[in-house]
Amino acid sequence: ATRHDVRPLRQRLLVVANRLPVSAVRRGEDAWSLEISAGGLVTALLGVNDFEARWIGWAGVNVPDEVGQKALTKALAEKRCIPVFPDEEIVHQYYNGYCNNILWPLFHYLGLPQEDRLATTRSFQSQFAAYKKANQMFADVVNKHYEDGDVVWCHDYHLMFLPKCLKEYNSNMKVGWFLHTHFPSSEIHRTLPSRSELLRSVLAADLVGFHTYDYARHFVSACTRILGLEGTPEGVEDQGKLTRVAAFPIGIDSERFISALKLPKVQEHIKELTERFRGRKVMLGVDRLDMIKGIPHKILAFEKFLEENPLWRDKVVLLQIAVPTRTDVPEYQKLTSQVHEIVGRINGRFGTLTAVPIHHLDRSLDFLGLCALYAVTDVAIVTSLRDGMNLVSYEFVACQDSKRGVLILSEYAGAAQSLGAGAILVNPWNITEVADSIRQALTMSAEEERNDTIIILTMLQPTQLKNGQKCL
Ligand code: ADP
Ligand code: G6P
Repeated sequence: ATRHDVRPLRQRLLVVANRLPVSAVRRGEDAWSLEISAGGLVTALLGVNDFEARWIGWAGVNVPDEVGQKALTKALAEKRCIPVFPDEEIVHQYYNGYCNNILWPLFHYLGLPQEDRLATTRSFQSQFAAYKKANQMFADVVNKHYEDGDVVWCHDYHLMFLPKCLKEYNSNMKVGWFLHTHFPSSEIHRTLPSRSELLRSVLAADLVGFHTYDYARHFVSACTRILGLEGTPEGVEDQGKLTRVAAFPIGIDSERFISALKLPKVQEHIKELTERFRGRKVMLGVDRLDMIKGIPHKILAFEKFLEENPLWRDKVVLLQIAVPTRTDVPEYQKLTSQVHEIVGRINGRFGTLTAVPIHHLDRSLDFLGLCALYAVTDVAIVTSLRDGMNLVSYEFVACQDSKRGVLILSEYAGAAQSLGAGAILVNPWNITEVADSIRQALTMSAEEERNDTIIILTMLQPTQLKNGQKCL
């Protein structure tokens, strides 16, 4: 072989996230089907393809038996995924409890669940113990599959304890940790009983990444104020060891959406939807049914808009596609009932025998169906109360081929920093302001819409997250 025949080896990357890109559904004793998992983390990482990546994570199901575990491990191997099998009790305490009932609301400034603050505070210790145990289980699986020279990339608030566990196994392992959510002000982080332990564990990584500069700044302040460490322009220094801290705003693989729009199946679907909603403007919300997404706020603002603009009542429809998520967590169950109740009331109030103003679907749409829906949308509306980035807003913009719709975007979504110039920015807590922005968006002249969307499109970047990977 000549020198030119030798191809450089692709860097091996171990992506470690609680959620695997596919979730498993049992179809028999040792048969599984795999479905694409919903959520921003999976969408963002689908764009990462420069590395030879393997995923390590949870397949979203409890598999207590060895036969089942073996069969699922085999099925996942075809997708380059390696499962971790936390038992039911750990999932309950770690995932439903510490991750989604404590860290998630706190990181998004929503505080602890309203009705059982004391109970939640009492269960902190056992849930944190389960959190550490789960992180150790992930570390064990990483360690088993690690080869010298691999880069290990840990993701999100579920795995803040992981960098420390990995470095204890092997201090030479190159470890990165990236947060896909908002990171709060140090004043909020310091209310966590486990505040110091979490920060120290994350600092064991070589590189720590966030969506925006603000979140990175909050993290460095937390390290300074809570741990008394020195923040430097590169990151945080602890006894001579520097952990680099930086912002790597994620985006989407926009080409995937743009090419999907050209498929005959999608074109057909676009035609059907256009026909179905002829004579009405289409407004669209696509969210996981999560408390941070401000879905009740969005729907109440839409009600106010209909109240104040009677002429629009039979000329607009709001399609709210809300995929259920974290359904074992009581706060999410309460949110589902609340949303159903409000939608029912508004449809009862403004519906006619032939049409209702809100179509609310509790489910996920497949990728091509979603692209078609984005493409026929006149106004997309995102009212997150806090959101690390919000990729739905990018996806909508990517699908605005010739239509040029308008984006109403919460100022509290990370995406507002990049898409803000071409969108109508709103404070979702101010229902009057959101109702006004709906009127403005619907009545915008075609010319205005076109200019706005062009500005946004020029800002759509392919995923910047790759830069994070390359820095490791
Ligand atoms: P989050 O990270 O909180 O899940 P993002 O907006 O960043 O929010 O990402 C959500 C991802 O999940 C997007 O890729 C979006 O297309 C997908 N998604 C959300 N809700 C639905 C739904 N109802 N149907 C299909 N896909 C959905
Ligand atoms: C957000 C989180 C991800 C998570 C996703 C879906 O995007 O940052 O870590 O995977 O929501 O939530 P779930 O709990 O179903 O994994």
